[in-house]
Amino acid sequence: MTLKSMCTVVGARPQFIKAAPVSRALASSFREVLVHTGQHYDYGMSDIFFQEMEMHPPDFHLEAGGGTHAEQTGKMLIGIEKILDSVKPDYVLVYGDTNSTLAGALAAAKAQIPLAHVEAGLRSFNRAMPEEINRVLTDHISSLLFCPTEAAVENLAQEGIVKGVHRVGDVMYDALLHNLAIARKHSTILKSLGLAKGQYALATVHRAANADEPARIAAILSALGSLSTRVVFPVHPRTRRMLQEAGLSVSANIRIIEPVGHFDMLTLQENANCILTDSGGMQKEAYLLGVRCITLREETEWVETVQAGWNKLAGVDVDAIRSAFETWHPFGERPALYGNGQAAEEICQILSKGPL
Ligand code: UD1
Repeated sequence: MTLKSMCTVVGARPQFIKAAPVSRALASSFREVLVHTGQHYDYGMSDIFFQEMEMHPPDFHLEAGGGTHAEQTGKMLIGIEKILDSVKPDYVLVYGDTNSTLAGALAAAKAQIPLAHVEAGLRSFNRAMPEEINRVLTDHISSLLFCPTEAAVENLAQEGIVKGVHRVGDVMYDALLHNLAIARKHSTILKSLGLAKGQYALATVHRAANADEPARIAAILSALGSLSTRVVFPVHPRTRRMLQEAGLSVSANIRIIEPVGHFDMLTLQENANCILTDSGGMQKEAYLLGVRCITLREETEWVETVQAGWNKLAGVDVDAIRSAFETWHPFGERPALYGNGQAAEEICQILSKGPL
């Protein structure tokens, strides 16, 4: 039997984590060709995840990182088109909402290769976010749309997309179940940073709307500096650049560190007294780990974490952030919002049935 072929396009940090469980599930029934666009290229933003997730190295690497949106997406599009032309896969598979997602999606659609989108249907309803543009466009040219939540299915229906839509759960949950056990066994980050469970908060910031706006990043730093706890802050390269350019200083309770690998990140998250972030993935991981999350944005795609009472949207309002941190302590049920940890298997089974 000749195996069907799959061209998977990844490029940014969270995509490596999401692709790992799906690649494992695909291994028995697909020949997978992995394309790394190079959107993220530092060791700590890319290679470390391939090592930790034990992923096979990319078959193609486009080195299309940096530059403006058009430069980055354009370079990727040209590179992916050539690869699709030579590999002629049965499917193209993309994840999430980054420029790499959009480039993979456009290249597939133009080459008339069925496109499968993992994490379809998410919406912030904020078109100022590059991610919102990327996800709306990708969904509208996908043949198979793998939704993590019911809200995502409903968002697609609102836009008239009902064909090829499957609610499979969230591959990040599959990834978490796999990786948390390893993290608990092997991560030494708490010891090396001199941290104890519940004695610190964890912060991350990387969205363009925060990281590229000096007033917003200054407000976030001011809020973090006002908290009655130590704050560990692994800094994304985009955010580091802004901190340097704007000459922003940080309070003594904030410890800035380099980006960390996924096992260390899960360990930092699981043991934090609070997570303050503008990351989508971390809002979900906080929920799954039972850690309260204060989201440094005005809206979220992961509305069910807010509805369940474990996530609070505080924007960059210093008082709102401080007051949520000091007075808000969620408790109670955490319903299984993100499936049963078998999303990757389900995706693989649906893909095996053939394009539509
Ligand atoms: C991208 C995604 C975002 C995702 C995030 C995960 C888009 C529009 N945004 O944002 O949805 O949540 O990845 O982290 O696709 N840089 C480095 N080293 C690296 C990677 C990036 O120095 O390894 C620099 C880039 O050159 C760029 C900046 O950081 O100047 C931002 O990188 P970019 O790829 O534009 O997107 P992210 O902010 O990471």
